[in-house]
Amino acid sequence: MKIKLLLITVPVLISLSVPALPGVRDTKHNFTQQSTSPNAYFLGANQVCVFCHTVHNADPARDQLWNHEVNDLQTYIPYSSPTLDMPQSAPRNGSLICLSCHDGTIAVNSLNNLPGPEGAGNYGIPAGPGLDGSGRLTSASSAYVGTDLSNDHPVGLTYDTGFDGDFVPKTGNPDLYPDKLLYLGDYVECTSCHNPHDNTWGDFLVESNQNSDLCGRCHIK
Ligand code: HEC
Ligand code: HEC
Ligand code: HEC
Ligand code: HEC
Repeated sequence: MKIKLLLITVPVLISLSVPALPGVRDTKHNFTQQSTSPNAYFLGANQVCVFCHTVHNADPARDQLWNHEVNDLQTYIPYSSPTLDMPQSAPRNGSLICLSCHDGTIAVNSLNNLPGPEGAGNYGIPAGPGLDGSGRLTSASSAYVGTDLSNDHPVGLTYDTGFDGDFVPKTGNPDLYPDKLLYLGDYVECTSCHNPHDNTWGDFLVESNQNSDLCGRCHIK
């Protein structure tokens, strides 16, 4: 019994002593005070994940134990074009969770569940140049998207090549392209192209867009 326990504890201790792996902590999505991020950070905040996730009292309308406030009543001006063929609806959760900060209407630090016993509220004091006094992103930030999405790649799209043959057909396998980029296997949303935890490729892209390879996962052009 003792030997077994030792075997289990040793690897755990080793993994604790390994320096932090690259990830969200090294990116602009680390909003804490000790952040290496040059811009948005919140004085007094030291927990990285809590700006987006919570282990208790998460938003039941979202996946991923979502902790950031989302306003379902917010409306957006969609992208439109005469050559758009696939069905487009309002942004789904795969976009709303990003827009909840990036549309500039809700404070970046407005959470459902603060790390202490307080419940919902604002975490830390805004002190980033891209933020207004109440913690909302402003158009001064390069990360500001706003509520007018008419000049952005369309989201809220149902990916259906029956409407447009210039696209890579779905495979039905969530590990293969284009399916692995589609929100819930069916939709084009912000998370189709962005991974909020990893800035390896710049702009939090899911993979390299060198030679427009990311575009080519869906578009046949
Ligand atoms: C700026 C917001 C943000 C921060 C900060 C953040 N996440 Fe996430 N996380 C997201 C979003 C958005 C998704 C959904 C991504 C998707 O569906 O592609 C997600 C998904 C996840 C998932 C489930 C899917 C997966 O990728 O495995 C886990 C687990 C997770 N996050 C853990 C963490 C942990 C742990 C931290 C802190 C070290 C963290 N996140 C920090 C936004 C964030
Ligand atoms: C909790 C609020 C929050 C959430 C949720 C969030 N972001 Fe951000 N994001 C920010 C802030 C704040 C910045 C940094 C702003 C700055 O540096 O001026 C940022 C930076 C970025 C940048 C880098 C922009 C640049 O100019 O370098 C990208 C790209 C981005 N976010 C995309 C996303 C996407 C896509 C999602 C959803 C998957 C998401 N974010 C979710 C708040 C958030
Ligand atoms: C079809 C792929 C795709 C979708 C969908 C997409 N993005 Fe992007 N995004 C990109 C690429 C590629 C870049 C980098 C090149 C550029 O800036 O145009 C980028 C850049 C950004 C930036 C950096 C600032 C900027 O404008 O350059 C932000 C912030 C951002 N995206 C947020 C979002 C949000 C929020 C959504 C959902 C409403 C979204 N993106 C949907 C591909 C996408
Ligand atoms: C996850 C799949 C996917 C990725 C990745 C993707 N797109 Fe798209 N894109 C779509 C879909 C679906 C449409 C809507 C097509 C339609 O309705 O005809 C679209 C629409 C467009 C349109 C507007 C077409 C029109 O008729 O108005 C342009 C331009 C475009 N994408 C460019 C890009 C570029 C550039 C990239 C790479 C940065 C990219 N897309 C990445 C799926 C994707």
